[in-house]
Amino acid sequence: MKRTTILLSALLLAAPAAADEFTEADLKRWQAEFQTVVKRGRAAFTDPKLGSNGVVCAQCHPNAANTHPETYPKFQKQLGRVAELWEMVNWCIQNPLEGEPLAADDPRMIALQAYINWERRGAKLAPGKH
Ligand code: HEC
Repeated sequence: MKRTTILLSALLLAAPAAADEFTEADLKRWQAEFQTVVKRGRAAFTDPKLGSNGVVCAQCHPNAANTHPETYPKFQKQLGRVAELWEMVNWCIQNPLEGEPLAADDPRMIALQAYINWERRGAKLAPGKH
């Protein structure tokens, strides 16, 4: 294939797809799945198994208080750089809870963030804010 042909094919493939179609039933199912994960996150907030010393998230962050997900990413002095929310969750797991950090895509990490974001829904996005 000539270079221009390859370029043209790439452009065609990258053309915006038609908007996804979904039904009321899909919406209901997706919302239910999301709430299931939020529920797991809420449970994790009082789960001593995330750490090693019996301390749980809810002791310092009842109802996800003072988690400020709407301010991420932002500079965090504990990490010395601009970080994402999950990295501060790991900081708390490793420090106050003396536990092992979780991978960003660990279902428990996703659940913790789903719960935090749900509790803080409606807060105005303010990336970088302290
Ligand atoms: C002993 C108290 C304590 C416990 C327990 C604790 N944290 Fe924290 N958390 C802190 C402190 C202190 C900070 C740092 C505040 C700062 O500098 O922004 C913090 C920061 C955070 C932040 C970032 C807040 C912000 O304003 O940017 C998140 C998110 C967070 N914690 C989640 C968690 C989660 C999830 C758990 C459980 C795995 C947890 N924390 C357990 C004390 C605690």
